[in-house]
Amino acid sequence: MSEKSFQLWPDMASSFALDVDLLYGFLIVVTIFFSILISVMVIGFSLYYRRGRKVNRKLGHHSNFTEVIWAAGPFVLVMIMFVWGAMLFYKMQTPPENTLDIEVVGKQWMWKIQHATGRQEINALHLPLGQPIRLRMISEDVIHSFYIPAFRVKQDVLPAFFTQLWFEPTRIGTYHLFCAEYCGNEHSKMIGTVTVMAPEEYARWVEEGVQEKPVDAGERLFTQFQCNTCHQSDNSGNGPALAGLFGKKRPLKGGGLVEANDQYFRDSILNPHKQILAGYDAMMPTFQGQLTESDSLAIIAYLKSLPQLPIPENSVSMQDLNP
Ligand code: CUA
Repeated sequence: MSEKSFQLWPDMASSFALDVDLLYGFLIVVTIFFSILISVMVIGFSLYYRRGRKVNRKLGHHSNFTEVIWAAGPFVLVMIMFVWGAMLFYKMQTPPENTLDIEVVGKQWMWKIQHATGRQEINALHLPLGQPIRLRMISEDVIHSFYIPAFRVKQDVLPAFFTQLWFEPTRIGTYHLFCAEYCGNEHSKMIGTVTVMAPEEYARWVEEGVQEKPVDAGERLFTQFQCNTCHQSDNSGNGPALAGLFGKKRPLKGGGLVEANDQYFRDSILNPHKQILAGYDAMMPTFQGQLTESDSLAIIAYLKSLPQLPIPENSVSMQDLNP
């Protein structure tokens, strides 16, 4: 956080900061230029043509040249804004392959962060410098919005639906974290800090104070809620076997295919009748109210960690579908 009490521009601490600021600067320059031009002309013409002044008030003859210029000029200008903005939007929506993934759960009124090692924090996010980061985010209740001004990133965090955010921290320091969506009467207190550390320092930090790895927590919950009574590993239970399922496309009852991704797993735990696999009945109880979003993330981590060996026979691999 800067010592200065008033800053016109936030700190620049991610690889997007310059890109966003340049585009924003361009919009501001264009806006200021036309605001001044139009104001000067409005005031100038109203003085020049004021009542009682002897000036030529007849319309001039039509000019094709002028007409083309005032149509083409603004068109080119807004197309520059559109293409520039679209390219930057695409870049900010497309995380690279080598991201470090961190989970974020929004809740009235706090941010819960879970690192891959199992280290958890609340209203604080520690990050290694120079590493592309991907946040996978979901809300326990209402819509929140995860906002780090110094990184120039903001993304809504929705109930029952994963959203993601990626960026690369480029400067060591501590920055503001905000909720940028009015989410109830303590919305303004839903704030925190983002700390960017040297990679070695982060590597040490993230191993400290770990209670339980997400995979272990997932396995514990899987046993505790007796998921294995239906989801038996040899596919003989009332529900499908779950090992090796991640990333596969599976046929649904009533037609269609669904990709077994994070969202599919999450919905299958908390809203199991949303998508029923072909060959199965809608008999699984919902675990809404018994499992939190954090719990379901742990179970997903556990299911993803299961060996790829026994693939249920009615699943189709991604390769079969996209040759
Ligand atoms: Cu959460 Cu505003």
